[in-house]
Amino acid sequence: MTTPLRHYLQFKDFSTEEYAYLFRRAHWIKDRFKRYETYHPLFDRTLVMIFEKASTRTRLSFEAGMQQLGGSAIYLNTRDSQLGRGEPIYDTAQVLSGMCDLVMIRTFEQATVEQLAAASRVPVINGLTNDYHPCQVLADIFTFIEHRGPIAGKTVVWVGDANNMCNTWLQAAEVLDFCVHISSPPGYGVQLEKIGLSGTDHFQLFDDPKDACRGAHLVTTDVWTSMGFEAENEARRQAFAGWCVDSNLMTVAASDAVFMHCLPAHRGEEVTPEVIDGPQSLVWEEAENRLHAQKALMEFLALGRIDEQTGAARCEANCC
Ligand code: CP
Ligand code: NVA
Repeated sequence: MTTPLRHYLQFKDFSTEEYAYLFRRAHWIKDRFKRYETYHPLFDRTLVMIFEKASTRTRLSFEAGMQQLGGSAIYLNTRDSQLGRGEPIYDTAQVLSGMCDLVMIRTFEQATVEQLAAASRVPVINGLTNDYHPCQVLADIFTFIEHRGPIAGKTVVWVGDANNMCNTWLQAAEVLDFCVHISSPPGYGVQLEKIGLSGTDHFQLFDDPKDACRGAHLVTTDVWTSMGFEAENEARRQAFAGWCVDSNLMTVAASDAVFMHCLPAHRGEEVTPEVIDGPQSLVWEEAENRLHAQKALMEFLALGRIDEQTGAARCEANCC
């Protein structure tokens, strides 16, 4: 039986039910890992990781994760590979597909990831583009569920640049049925047509970040200047001055609200030290959960669904 090849290029690529499965698998894999129990479902499989932008967490979590699942991971970057010398994406995809079982790519344009996936014979994972960062939001929501239970019906606040993280949270809200309150400085707001949202039921826009935070269950933000936008640094520093998550904002959120940041963070810019290093912050838990959530993702893409009773692969995605 041949099943259609699945990729993970945007958060909306998976269904509500598939996310429920992935969160259960991430929990199971994490629990087993914490008990030092070996789990090698990807024995002999190879992940290639292509980086056209810098990374600490993404590289570490994919590389460690693949090794801990019994496989191996290979790091390529634009500087040292033929990608940096203009080898076409199509040709690269043919070569990768012949030698590897999974591809993770971090690059600038979402179109590059889409082109790679279209030409690939193995699953492709988006490790961040200018438009989306689905692996991070996968880990963030897994973290929220661990600490506060189901996210459906909850309010998540996005303070600051409506960037790749914000776009991904907006897609997640539609799939998992929660609401995102967004407050961004003028000129840096969300571009709804770009994300392909189907309606306005799952987000609300606010001029004042404090109004956005009222009653929220999760407050999150990100750097004022994302990778690739460094030329705008000074203009952004001025525009974003009023969009800092401080205790003044956290005070109006729900009393058990949590704070998240994908990291790396700039203390004193988008968040104050008292918030990111304070008791409501889950930033280290989210970072660690990249490992566990992406193991579940790689297992799903490489083997399909595992029967949760017997542990056998059920061949629903990419495994036949
Ligand atoms: N959050 C995140 O993706 O971190 P890195 O840029 O270090 O991979
Ligand atoms: N929005 C940030 C996220 C880094 C993990 C960037 O794209 O640089």
